[in-house]
Amino acid sequence: MSDWNRLSQQLLRDCQSAGLSHLPRVAPLVLDSDSRPKPPPSVSTPKSQESMPKKKAAPTPVLQPQPKFEPTGNREQDLEKLAACVADCIRCPELAKTRTQTVFGVGDPQTKVMFLGEAPGADEDKQGEPFVGRAGQLLNKIIAACGWTREELYICNILRCRPPGNRTPNETEAANCREYLDGQIAVVDPEYIVCWGSCAAQNLLATKEPIGRMRQRFFQYGNAKVLCTYHPSYLLRNPAAKKPVWEDMKFLLSDMGLTPPSES
Ligand code: URA
Repeated sequence: MSDWNRLSQQLLRDCQSAGLSHLPRVAPLVLDSDSRPKPPPSVSTPKSQESMPKKKAAPTPVLQPQPKFEPTGNREQDLEKLAACVADCIRCPELAKTRTQTVFGVGDPQTKVMFLGEAPGADEDKQGEPFVGRAGQLLNKIIAACGWTREELYICNILRCRPPGNRTPNETEAANCREYLDGQIAVVDPEYIVCWGSCAAQNLLATKEPIGRMRQRFFQYGNAKVLCTYHPSYLLRNPAAKKPVWEDMKFLLSDMGLTPPSES
């Protein structure tokens, strides 16, 4: 068997064991702030096809969460049940072996706004809570500038285990953890999801688009409008990026009909 065949079969097995029944083949639907779908980007037509009758373009489907977990309506209990499954998870052998504990998510299950990061770091792995290290301190400042507290939001990550050395989550790990993320999204059913950084944005929306090009517009994931911006860790290394992030937060607040406290 060729390496390629072996790799594809392994990927399919990993996906099946993660509970995926199919792989998404759709591009994320891009919405403007007025929520109207944008036309798909134009694609140049090869000469030989130019005279062929044009097919009517199918509407771009909205990416849907695929939770295997059926919410019961009691959000607190549903999240507790999901967290218990996560705590025993061994789908990613390396992460299960090296983690101190799983980091599920925190916040208000009734919130309108979910924050999505990449994966726990060393501090989060120690404390069992997302965004409690240096990046988390900066995130708290951004949250306060928006007029919120952490407790009013729901905060979680693409992964629930710390990748050793804080490396970027790989595709298999993200796929293994997706059922839990989609479960959390299905239970909390937020109106908005903010993706912090390219790992969160590209994984959630199944795209390779650079984060800089995903800002300042809304995507749709299930019921939620999705805003993508730079990760707080990136802001720690590049303070100049704080300005665009603040523009993104104002874009979000304005869509929610809110004004930041500093401007009211
Ligand atoms: N970075 C993340 O993306 N998530 C955390 O929980 C902490 C740091």
